[in-house]
Amino acid sequence: MNKVNYLYHLDNNNEISLLRQENMKIVTVVGARPQFIKAAVVSRILRQNHKDILVHTGQHYDYNMSEQFFEELSIPRPDYNLGISGGSHAEMTGRMMIAIEKVLQETKPDWVLVYGDTNSTLAAALAAAKLYIPICHAEAGVRTHSRMSPEEINRICTDHVASLLLASTESGMRSLADEGLIKLGQLVGDPMYDAFLLYSGKVQRKDLRLILLGGTEVSVPEKYYYLTCHREENTNDDRDLTEIFRAMDVLDAPTIYPVHPRNKDRALRLQKQHHFRNLLLAEPVGYLESIYLVKNAEKVVTDSGGLQREAFFAEKKCVTIMNYACWPETIVGNRNELAHPDHEEIIRKLTHEQTVDNNYKPFGDGHAAEKIVNAMENWEES
Ligand code: UD1
Ligand code: UDP
Repeated sequence: MNKVNYLYHLDNNNEISLLRQENMKIVTVVGARPQFIKAAVVSRILRQNHKDILVHTGQHYDYNMSEQFFEELSIPRPDYNLGISGGSHAEMTGRMMIAIEKVLQETKPDWVLVYGDTNSTLAAALAAAKLYIPICHAEAGVRTHSRMSPEEINRICTDHVASLLLASTESGMRSLADEGLIKLGQLVGDPMYDAFLLYSGKVQRKDLRLILLGGTEVSVPEKYYYLTCHREENTNDDRDLTEIFRAMDVLDAPTIYPVHPRNKDRALRLQKQHHFRNLLLAEPVGYLESIYLVKNAEKVVTDSGGLQREAFFAEKKCVTIMNYACWPETIVGNRNELAHPDHEEIIRKLTHEQTVDNNYKPFGDGHAAEKIVNAMENWEES
């Protein structure tokens, strides 16, 4: 039986206040690649004074989309793996909700901790809210103001049922204020920045081999561009990916593209059809390898929320193929420019030189994970 310890502070005026809670039981729900990375840095801290029960929904399941992250980042094996993936958004979310509800009824946690904006995030938040379990949402307040992206729906719904909203940046705090949620909000910094600092430099070029789609192994070229593309909006038909490939194919060095499974068949077919020769279509890589590839790339082209921030951390010029800025802090000094999937626009924006102000650090101090855990420890229901 789990017993929470409450530590109080008595000040000079005999006012008593909660210092922190120890030995809480937290259910952390993850399911997709970026969430494994965030959980790696937060769960390390959480486990020092609390019981962290890790639930993997199964949303990402290939070895190189899931297990490899647990191995490389020494994340403990999930206590529950629900094995739920694929299907429509409603099917996936609904099946996850049913399974997560059972876990929560069995484990009776003090908190449910969720990250970001995937269907796994939303399913966990809805299941917990209906059982009156407090929800801590890390990476709260991110908004694109486009209801055309499934992630925006997931973020808004999660923020509006959570008890503790932990924003990575000031723009997140502003969005929470705009939606009347600021009382539940705290600025903690970005756990992805913690991870970037913690895991940088763990692999060297000589250790890194790319497995091309089809199975051939190659080493990483001296000079290359780094591309990732997986967003639903950019993968609905051939047009957008063809435009992105056309842009990358004429650059002065090859492009490494570790292909998300969602895009595998399409990417291979388009490369063959259009004879794109300057593209290395590879299997997804692990996080340590991805960080290496960002840090050593000429420039980055992506539609990933995580990768556009990592390009910023690594001071690499980035072009983001999106209509909206999820991380507006990066849109300064030409460091991250938004582009439509249009080859001329992508090439034009890639040629703009960036200006880096080393004093500008909008993603915190590399200790977001501690602040996330502290926020839960210090929380008092109002
Ligand atoms: C999901 C998230 C997205 C996040 C991304 C991180 C939602 C709505 N989207 O998108 O916000 O940026 O994860 O990468 O939650 N697949 C495999 N093997 C895998 C994983 C997926 O083959 O290991 C296939 C699935 O079967 C599915 C497709 O890829 O057909 C898309 O997967 P899904 O998890 O639905 O969405 P992502 O594009 O990964
Ligand atoms: N990433 C990875 N291997 C890859 C491609 C990306 O480890 O083959 C990492 C990348 O460095 C980033 C994270 O996965 O940290 C982002 O995940 P993704 O782009 O899938 O999701 P998003 O951040 O857009 O939600």
